[in-house]
Amino acid sequence: MIELDVKSADSTVIGEENGLNLAEEFENYKEKIAQIITDLYAKKDIQGEGLQWMNLGYSQETSWYVKEYASLVENRFDNILVLGIGGSALGGLAVTHALLKPYWNLLSKEERNGFPRIFFLDNIDPDQMNSLLDILDLSKTLVNVITKSGDTAETMAQYMVLKDKLEQQLGDDYRKNIIVTTDRKTGILRQISEQEGYKAFVVPDDVGGRFSVFTAVGLLPFVLTGIDIDQITLGIREMDATLKNTNIFENIAAQNALIHYLMDTKLGKNITVMMPYSDRLKYIADWFVQLWAESLGKSRRLDGSKTPTGSTPVKAVGATDQHAQMQLFNEGPNNKIINFIRVGEFDTQLEIPQIFQYTGIGYLGGKTINDLINAEADSTKVSLTDYSKPVVTIKIPKIDGYHIGQLLYMLEIQTAIAGMLYNVNAFNQPSVSQARNYTYALMGRIGYEESANALREKMLTV
Ligand code: PA5
Repeated sequence: MIELDVKSADSTVIGEENGLNLAEEFENYKEKIAQIITDLYAKKDIQGEGLQWMNLGYSQETSWYVKEYASLVENRFDNILVLGIGGSALGGLAVTHALLKPYWNLLSKEERNGFPRIFFLDNIDPDQMNSLLDILDLSKTLVNVITKSGDTAETMAQYMVLKDKLEQQLGDDYRKNIIVTTDRKTGILRQISEQEGYKAFVVPDDVGGRFSVFTAVGLLPFVLTGIDIDQITLGIREMDATLKNTNIFENIAAQNALIHYLMDTKLGKNITVMMPYSDRLKYIADWFVQLWAESLGKSRRLDGSKTPTGSTPVKAVGATDQHAQMQLFNEGPNNKIINFIRVGEFDTQLEIPQIFQYTGIGYLGGKTINDLINAEADSTKVSLTDYSKPVVTIKIPKIDGYHIGQLLYMLEIQTAIAGMLYNVNAFNQPSVSQARNYTYALMGRIGYEESANALREKMLTV
């Protein structure tokens, strides 16, 4: 199981001004946390609570459908191209980057065991899109359009470009190269997919985009690239079994949620840095940034009071960011909590040859790259605590489906608990919708004329 080490957030290590008396805080909050966890699990089956993602580890239905489809298209495609944005892309990107062999797309087909390459277009940069279109053989590409709402401008524009190109190239057969993942009933993409006869998968009701990684949104790309999704769901279930525990002293998601909440509200540390010491986990930091930011950044609490909430998530990667952001983390304002993710055992080992005797680098020879990254994580943690900066560490024994399932699910529950501590609705994103509507207006969508005029006027002043 993954573990959480919270020692370096404690006042005994980093002093009272910057650390928490964790034993005392856990004791103070134990009833509140027990109530939160009880409420969370009591509400998870109630439609409208936004908590259906808590049931995904137990549902075999989606696994069955995505596996069936993957076996039908086995060996047909060299590339999977995922079109999506935000929660419709980040989970898939994070998990495939973690679980597929690094540089997957550069490996030969044999080295990929016959599975396709995978590309994510989660932005609308014309240069990037055109370049990708130049290198992909579309006849061998399966395009997975993912949008829960079915009308997200970025994703639908990408889809329109791809549909047109596929049709030009493949004639009527283009439909076999498009699959969609969208709402069961509503949305324009659902409508189009019925008219066009695409194979369609469902983003279940009551699962918001950023909590959808374990629906077909993620599971389909995972299975298509050969990832063992049973291991992932097993990891989720086993993590869920431990996170049901209402005892804060035994519940790592509750501990991390409370620590982050108190660091923000009590000690003014309103920035949370997610810092995996592993390149394979770097997009998990991106995924977490969205999860934490969209869930907790709210202008209004559930009791109606208007107090802006949320701590700002920042991505960092060890050891890379030791040479970029660490100067600020150490010496800058003490307004952050640093969340390391450490890997127990890397898949491979790499020795550093003993080829130089210079004092400045000779010590590296005979050690491993594994020793080096671990030593850097250890020393950075000590150095942060020297500067009285709070650090918590999530320890993942290995990067495999089982533990990645645990990690992501734990972070989802942590976010939900933090939402309840802040007393906000962690499952909506009103200002994302506002920006969406502004885009519709500027791009001339019917029905948005009035706001387009107001917007144009405002644009002259901002
Ligand atoms: O978490 C969310 O709800 C958002 O980030 C959405 O995933 C994002 O806006 C994309 O939405 P959609 O899947 O409807 O295209």
